[in-house]
Amino acid sequence: MQISLRPTWTEIKLSALKKNLLKIQKTIGHGVKLMFVVKAGAYGHGAAAAAGFAEREKLAWGFGVSSVEEGLALRAAQVRSPILVLGSLYPFESFVEAINNGLLATISSLDAAAQVIEASRKLGKKAVCHIKLETGMGRIGARKPAVIKIFSELSASKSAVIGGLYTHLSSADTDPEFTARQLGYFEETVSELAGYGVDNIIKHAANSAGLLNYPQSRRDMVRAGLAAYGLMEGFEPVLSWKTRIVFIKTVREGTYISYNKSFRAPRPMKIATIPVGYGDGYIRRFSGARVLAGGVRCPIAGNVTMDMTMVDVTDARDAAVGSEVTLIGRQGNEEITAGELAAAAGTIPYEVVTLITSRVPRIYV
Ligand SMILES: Cc1ncc(COP(=O)(O)O)c(C=O)c1O
Repeated sequence: MQISLRPTWTEIKLSALKKNLLKIQKTIGHGVKLMFVVKAGAYGHGAAAAAGFAEREKLAWGFGVSSVEEGLALRAAQVRSPILVLGSLYPFESFVEAINNGLLATISSLDAAAQVIEASRKLGKKAVCHIKLETGMGRIGARKPAVIKIFSELSASKSAVIGGLYTHLSSADTDPEFTARQLGYFEETVSELAGYGVDNIIKHAANSAGLLNYPQSRRDMVRAGLAAYGLMEGFEPVLSWKTRIVFIKTVREGTYISYNKSFRAPRPMKIATIPVGYGDGYIRRFSGARVLAGGVRCPIAGNVTMDMTMVDVTDARDAAVGSEVTLIGRQGNEEITAGELAAAAGTIPYEVVTLITSRVPRIYV
């Protein structure tokens, strides 16, 4: 395996990604499409590599990205499957790039509908649109009356066509009652669109928690990120994050470690320095977390700094310069998950993996 000279890297286990996507496919069954959400660099896993692999292995119908730029990057990486831009397309000139590159455009307002009709007419090319219904996420999307108007206007256009209708669940992991309300409003809108050939378009609502907790939300397609990356229970984590000890010392009781004397050795200790810090996305909020060295859970000592972090490796008897340290992943019987790190920092696993910066090489294994 090739790694950069600085020994800090992530390993992306493609076999785990495959296993998770196959598990999702099995859960949703034949006849329901799987959109693999690869926005924000595939949640830090590397979008081109993750989408390219899923396409080659026929593990997904298509991909979800957040912006036209993310879609173009996938096209540049030879990804040919359908790509839906999940964000609201703005500025409206971006419809031109989306149409020219065959990206599916989210239409979340009457203004956007008018603009996509105009752009596709001028280009003389088909624009396939997925209309976004606002059901309770409060982010982007139109309510039912505007969606009906959008359907009416797009149906009258020859170049802009409706490929789908969708919504996004805000609380499928926490609030069944609210989720039922969101899904109810979605179904109500679908019924009212009966005159517009709504049976023939892709209707979708479910994210990972939705597809697992609410079978009725699976509809014609699910859009999964978290489960595919193994960041939910029942799925195998795809990403591990590793580094090596670059410096080690034994300190006396009372020795201060890191900025602002943020740690004071309560007894003689073995302190290791690892070359990872908040410049890599190992944020200061992780200062209370643990890493694995020699198969032992070792606490961070003092504040995480920009490029280096100190660890109390007193209990990791064999720890030495060059020893591998796991920030996320397994060593022997021990495991540190992105979820554990997220809890230490008061955040969510999405943020932990998405924060890993580009200076950390992604190694695909
Ligand atoms: C519109 C949309 N659909 C689907 C997803 C995938 O969600 P999850 O990663 O929870 O499966 C996201 C991610 O936040 C999203 O923004």
